[in-house]
Amino acid sequence: MSTLGIIGSSAMDPLQGFEQSRASNETTPYGEPSSRLLHGQISGQQIIFLARHGEEKSIAPHLINSRANLWAFQHAGVERILAVNAVGGISQRCVSGSLVIPDDLIDYTHGREQTFFDGTAKDLRHMEFAAPYDEEMRQQLCAAAAAEEIVFVPGGTHGIVQGPRLETAAEIKRLARDGCEIVGMTGMPEAALAREMGLAYACCGVVVNQAAGIGSGSIYMEIDATKAEGMAKFNQLLQRFLVG
Ligand code: HPA
Repeated sequence: MSTLGIIGSSAMDPLQGFEQSRASNETTPYGEPSSRLLHGQISGQQIIFLARHGEEKSIAPHLINSRANLWAFQHAGVERILAVNAVGGISQRCVSGSLVIPDDLIDYTHGREQTFFDGTAKDLRHMEFAAPYDEEMRQQLCAAAAAEEIVFVPGGTHGIVQGPRLETAAEIKRLARDGCEIVGMTGMPEAALAREMGLAYACCGVVVNQAAGIGSGSIYMEIDATKAEGMAKFNQLLQRFLVG
C-alpha cells in the first residue's frame, strides 16, 4: 500500500499504535499547512499524519489552509487520504458514538480558498465531483468496520457548514430536508482540493453529538462525553483498514 495520509479532526488525539520516525515542517506555494507532517507507521504501513486544526487545535474551520495541507501531502508522496471529521448526527441511524462513511456531500461553506485553479499554477479543468469520495477506499473502510463489528453507517450525505458556531435547530431541519445525515465544518473544500490534485480521498465521520435541536441538553457536554468512544472506534477501524 502506498503511504496513507491521515487528516486528524478536532476530537483526535495521537493515533493509536503510531510509531513516529520524524516530523517535517513544510512550506508550500499556498502558505503554511495546519501542522507539521508526522511521518511514521502503524502495523508496518507508512502513514503521514496532519492535524487539521493545528497541533494546539486552535485553527477555526474557516481558517484551515486546505490548499497548503493537500499540497504538502502530495509533495510528500501521499496518494490516498483518509480524512477524519468530528460531526453531528442528523438522521436517526447516525447516533452519537457511531462512525459514518459518507458517500456524498453538500457544501454550504463560503469564502474559503476552494480551488487550485486560481489562474496561477494550473490550467483550468472542471473536475468531476458527482461522487466526491473515493469508492474503493470507502468500500475498504466499510469492510474493515464490518470485520471489527463496529457500529457504522455505510453511506449518507455529509453537510458541510461554515461554522465556527453550531447550527440553529431550523438550519438542521433544512439540512435534513436536503438529505444530509451528518453535519460538520471541515469536509470542504478539502475533498474537492484532493480531487483536483488527483488524490484518492475518503472520509470517516465520527458522530460526537446529535445535531442542534435533535437532542436535549448541551451539545458541548455531549461532545466531551462521546468523543473518546468515537475515536476509540476509529482507531480500531484504522488498524483493520491498514492490515486489509
Ligand atoms: N455541527 C457542525 N459541526 C460539528 C458538529 C455539529 O453538530 N459536531 C461536530 N462538528
